[in-house]
Parts: sequence; C-alpha cells; structure tokens
Amino acid sequence: MIADVVVDLQYGDCGKGKIAHALCRERKYTHVIRYNGGCNAGHTIYHNGQKFVTHHIPCGVFFGIKSIIGPGCVVHTDTFLKELEELEAAGIPAKKLVHVANNAHIITDFHRAEDGKDEAIGTTRRGNGPAYRDKYGRKGVRALDDPKLYPYLIDMYRELYENEAYNEIEILFEGAQGFGLDVDWGDYPYVTSSHCTVGSALLNGVPPRAIRDVWGVAKIYETYVGAKDFEGPDEIFETIRERGQEYGATTGRPRQINWLDFDMLKMATRINGCTKVVFNKMDVLEGLDAWCLYDGPNLYQFKKRDDIELWLSGKLELEVDDNIEVMFSGDKEFI
Ligand code: IMP
Ligand code: MG
Repeated sequence: MIADVVVDLQYGDCGKGKIAHALCRERKYTHVIRYNGGCNAGHTIYHNGQKFVTHHIPCGVFFGIKSIIGPGCVVHTDTFLKELEELEAAGIPAKKLVHVANNAHIITDFHRAEDGKDEAIGTTRRGNGPAYRDKYGRKGVRALDDPKLYPYLIDMYRELYENEAYNEIEILFEGAQGFGLDVDWGDYPYVTSSHCTVGSALLNGVPPRAIRDVWGVAKIYETYVGAKDFEGPDEIFETIRERGQEYGATTGRPRQINWLDFDMLKMATRINGCTKVVFNKMDVLEGLDAWCLYDGPNLYQFKKRDDIELWLSGKLELEVDDNIEVMFSGDKEFI
C-alpha cells in the first residue's frame, strides 16, 4: 500500500483542491480519501474549464477514482447528498464512486443549530465543533446509523486489507483546513475541531510506512477567516484580497490577510514531514512590488519574485530538510 498526503501549512484555503486534482491526473491512485473535517471545508476545483466548490466529496470523483469520506471526518448527510446531486447534474458520476466510512460521524441538525449561535470563534456554523465534541464524548451518531447513507457506506478495514489487490492500493489523502487551525497546533481556541496534520491521515486506517510523499501547500501570503484579529495594518492587503478573491468558499466571508509567517510555515513543514512544498498564488503579488514575509518578528521585503523564491527554498532546505522539493505556482497554474 502506498499513500500520498496533501496538507495545508497555513489556515486553509491554500489550494489543496488544486494540488489534489493535479495529482489525481498524474498519478495512478486507486482511492482518494478525505481524512478530517466536515462541510466547513470549501475546495475550489477547476475541472475541464468548469468551476466546482466541494465541501465533503474528495476530488477523485473527477477522474473516476473511488473516493471515500474517511472515519476522521464528520458528515452532514443532506449536504453530502445535495453535493452528490450537483456533481451528477454536472456530468460527474459521483454516486457510483463516493463512499462514506461507516465509522465516520454525523453532523446532526441539532449540531448545526448549536454551532449557528457561535460568536466566540467565528466558525463556519456548519456544526463541525459540536459533532466532534459528541464523537469524543461518546454520544455521537455514526454514518452506519443513518439510513440515508446506507447506499454509500464502506468498511475501511475490509476495503484496504481484505482486498486481493492489497499490494496495488495507492491512496491520495486529501486534507481539509490547515496547520494554523489544527486543534492541537493551531492558535487555540481559534481553531477547528479536527486534526489537520499528516498524523490525521494515519488515523484513517493506513500504516505510517505506507506514506510516500507529503505535499505541503501554502500561499505566498497568509489568510485567515474567523473571530480573532489577524490582518496586518498595510493598505495593500485590501488589494491582495480583491486580486486573490480572498472570500470564503463556504461562507463568503472576507478572509483577513497578512504577510507570510515563515516560523509557522517551518513548524508545519517539520511536523508534517513534507517532501514537497508548494507556494500558491504567486501571481497575486506580481506587479505589486510587495514580496514580503515575516521571519520571527522581522519583516523582510524582497526586490523581486526570484529573491523571495530563493530565500524560501534555501531556508526550508537548510533548516528543515535538504531533500524538500520547493515549488512556486500561480493561482490558475497546474503543476
Ligand atoms: P469550524 O471548523 O467551522 O468550527 O471553524 C473554526 C475555525 O476554522 C474558524 O476560524 C473558521 O473560519 C475556520 N475554518 C474552518 N474550515 C475552514 C476552511 O475550510 N477554510 C478556512 N477556514 C476554515
Ligand atoms: Mg477552502
């Protein structure tokens, strides 16, 4: 069994969907598995020129690959079924490809209503936190208890191990949210309620030695959506928000913007054991004369794109791992 993992090194919305989509096209996966989170996620994917925003469903469906919502996820059944219908209507045969792990947990309408009152954290109000709380409080409802999900249920152990093609299984793990929102490593309590690191992928039934590549995804600047103050004082962030279309894919809220935080990036790259790091949205800063980042408390400004690229690749190779492959990409470029 072999598995690649896509993780976000910042606060979500770094373009995991794009990277996962590109990997599905290039590599021969037998399974794509979402390993954390619920419909708080919003993955924007361009497939054959058409724009899709998915919340629950992994991107394997665009390529005819079996796609599983893993046991580490929480599922809002009606949102999931609606998303299936939308994909089918757009000509993507999602129904025959998508499965839900029978031990994934359900986001109930009660969870939604409760989360809908949140003001402290600035959640997406999709019921994520209360669903995980009840899971760990041993009061949750699992997918196998929801009759509407019966046609889609899958037993992960049987699927992965009691399978004649065991040696040919090649999985892409698609993460949701990001390191800065991780319940343990993020800025608690301004975090989501699941784990957003590579460790979280392993909780879905795959052994550590199966991991091949860990793709860390970042943007060349930071964005965050939620209740804490995050945006820097620089007026240019307004321009970046417009150029980068930095509005939540799930809630439409404007994302707060700041310069890249190298310390957090380094920490996320180390803890996730990234073999590849991709910086997205380079084109958003093009022409603004604003190639800036924070290294600890110090704000650096570089003269041109090449300089910031060299600095970032050099630092990651020197301080994390000299085998890391560091890549830079524009928003609509596909690696
Ligand atoms: P929750 O996950 O809805 O409980 O929200 C907790 C925090 O995570 C809030 O700051 C949300 O804005 C943020 N968040 C949750 N999901 C995403 C996402 O997919 N992208 C970006 N931020 C997210
Ligand atoms: Mg998103």
